[in-house]
Amino acid sequence: MLSSQHIRTQFLKFFEEKNHTIVPSSSLVPHEDPTLLFTNAGMNQFKDIFLGHEKRPYTKAASSQKCVRAGGKHNDLENVGYTARHHTFFEMLGNFSFGDYFKKEAINYAWELLTEIYAIPKDKLLVTVYKDDTEAYDIWANDIGLPAKKIIKIGDNKGSKFASDNFWMMGDTGPCGPCSEIFYDHGEAIEGGPPGSKNEDGDRFIEIWNLVFMQYNRDEKGKMHLLPKPSVDTGMGLERITAVLQNVHSNYDIDIFSSLIKEAAKLNKNTPISHPSLRVLSDHIRATSFLIGDGVMPANESRGYVLRRIIRRAIRHGYKLGIRVPFFYKLVEPLSKVMGSAFNFSKERKQIIIDEIHLEEQNFFETIENGMAILDKAIDELKLNKKSEISGQVAFKLHDTYGFPLDLTADVCRENNIKINTKEFDSAMAKQKNMARSAGNFKAKVSIDYNGPNTIFLGYENTSATAKLVHILKNDKSVENLKEKEKGILILDQTPFYAESGGQIGDKGIIITEKK
Ligand code: SER
Repeated sequence: MLSSQHIRTQFLKFFEEKNHTIVPSSSLVPHEDPTLLFTNAGMNQFKDIFLGHEKRPYTKAASSQKCVRAGGKHNDLENVGYTARHHTFFEMLGNFSFGDYFKKEAINYAWELLTEIYAIPKDKLLVTVYKDDTEAYDIWANDIGLPAKKIIKIGDNKGSKFASDNFWMMGDTGPCGPCSEIFYDHGEAIEGGPPGSKNEDGDRFIEIWNLVFMQYNRDEKGKMHLLPKPSVDTGMGLERITAVLQNVHSNYDIDIFSSLIKEAAKLNKNTPISHPSLRVLSDHIRATSFLIGDGVMPANESRGYVLRRIIRRAIRHGYKLGIRVPFFYKLVEPLSKVMGSAFNFSKERKQIIIDEIHLEEQNFFETIENGMAILDKAIDELKLNKKSEISGQVAFKLHDTYGFPLDLTADVCRENNIKINTKEFDSAMAKQKNMARSAGNFKAKVSIDYNGPNTIFLGYENTSATAKLVHILKNDKSVENLKEKEKGILILDQTPFYAESGGQIGDKGIIITEKK
């Protein structure tokens, strides 16, 4: 059986032999592109070349790109654990031409790799082309020799603002063009119809490779201009092609996931290998480790909050399996082995990944028990009363007091066929934000009398530090000193303590002064 590592290597080697430059995966954090939450396609790092803003010494490239589709526009988080093919993290194999070759070569390369190198039987493959793209149609029909019934013309604009099926655009403006998708037929035993048919959403015909032919530049008015040098951007999910080559239907049965699932099952002796929570853990440890590896840390906003949501969702699934102590960090080691060359973090980075997950787990385990008790009770009551919607206030309390992100509560509810009243949740959240705003700089629940500079947070790197005491508050008012056993708020110039907001737990620790 071909391993996923071998499949990745074969892809890159194939294109290297066709004079492509092998470009390493870029970071999951698209530093150059503020419009993007996480890197979500192989072409992201080449965006400026396609747009003509940047030149590189090569015109042909290939890569295996780390991608995350969680949070933001592409969000697959909520489907992980429920389907055979959704992931928060995946690798996208791609070849790119920057004004070099075009449709003929792109189609011929793809066919050669799939049918000769990967040796997929030709009769298992079929393709789609954009309805007006006679050029691509003719290449598939005449060069490749596919029968007409295996070349499906697609191009319904299903009301989307700027995308229709088989026409790919990077955004409102810029390079774009028709695409041709290659599908694998997993066989009659699985339900589903070919692309374009009414059963196309079934699981039988699976898209494995998207070839985008960038031939237009779309201007602000929506007008298409022919590009002087048409380009190519292709993307093939490593996990999907591996499923085909390892002869399994679900991505979760490929080598990477099955070995992680086995490791996750060992965390709790009684877990059967088929338990859906193991799939969730095997997926989430990948996104978690690679995000921390690329410098994202759990936090209450932006990228860090997406990461926190992924980790807490994983912890809840471990909790569901009966685990009551930090466990998730233990999957980093097996992950680093099974990912091979894709896990290219240093020993020190790897340790940071392990420590960060461990810390996040310790914090969340402090409240998960109470939060779950409240949620279970609310669900039991709903079931008793034959109701199927949980109040937004309960969801908000879980978020605010127990650190349950909304999608975690939604995940538990989905298992019980219960919906959340998100309108109520949103209004509770808006109310709390207003309160926090009126409480001043500190966003604390109490109003405090301090308008000095912000405290510098050191907690991502350190758990202890030397700091200067800049202000003391007692009963929320400034004071000179605190007497023995008096309670108050100390404001420091810098601190490793994370004073969390939004209902998350703050750090606990000791402050020692020079004077006794
Ligand atoms: N950019 C295209 C996609 O994401 C092809 O790589 O599918």
